[in-house]
Amino acid sequence: MPTCHVYIATSLDGFIARPDGDIEWLHQWPDIGDDYGYADFMNSVDGLIIGRGTFEKVLSFGKWPYDKPVVVLSRTLDPEAVPADRADRVRILALGPTEVLDMLRREGWSRAYVDGGRLIQSFLADGLIEDMTITRIPILIGTGRPLFGTLPHDVVLTHFETTAYPSGFVQSRYAVGRVA
Ligand SMILES: NC(=O)c1ccc[n+]([C@@H]2O[C@H](COP(=O)([O-])OP(=O)(O)OC[C@H]3O[C@@H](n4cnc5c(N)ncnc54)[C@H](OP(=O)(O)O)[C@@H]3O)[C@@H](O)[C@H]2O)c1
Repeated sequence: MPTCHVYIATSLDGFIARPDGDIEWLHQWPDIGDDYGYADFMNSVDGLIIGRGTFEKVLSFGKWPYDKPVVVLSRTLDPEAVPADRADRVRILALGPTEVLDMLRREGWSRAYVDGGRLIQSFLADGLIEDMTITRIPILIGTGRPLFGTLPHDVVLTHFETTAYPSGFVQSRYAVGRVA
């Protein structure tokens, strides 16, 4: 199966978006001329698996931000809802996490970027996330869509490294599970 990797930004109080999905608060910071490892991370994956909430937000950008193939997991979206100009790169599938990973394995993927709060929570609950890079933004937004939620069991993490940037962003990388 492809391994699954998270690269995401949260407010210091743990939200990835406001309740209405707004993420403008992520983009109001001075450009420090550093992409926080995003390009290297993107280059390391074969493609993305995203939830419907993330897909709907990305569609609202107007410009499609990904070069890599994207699989959208949704049981409610019409599989034909992919805009025609992205049909070669985007699929909407009503599959569970293990099913989609099995399909992507057969397609030759070895590393997947999993994105979207509820989707990440579900992959974590199923023990399918290998590592997480979490960038904490120095802002409290009080309420919103959380990165983490309830779990069927504790998930122990191994801390690899933390980098504090001049912007005030603090990025930590964790393996999921105990790593000797
Ligand atoms: N801060 C950041 O770096 C960052 C990163 C990514 C996203 N975001 C923001 O976060 C928001 C989206 O996150 P979100 O947590 O609301 O939604 P999400 O995780 O992107 O999508 C959740 C939806 O995905 C579908 N889904 C299919 N299989 C699923 C599964 N196994 N587990 C969970 N959901 C599954 C469900 O839709 P159906 O009901 O259609 O099946 C579910 O409602 C957007 O505003 C986006 O802009 C921020």
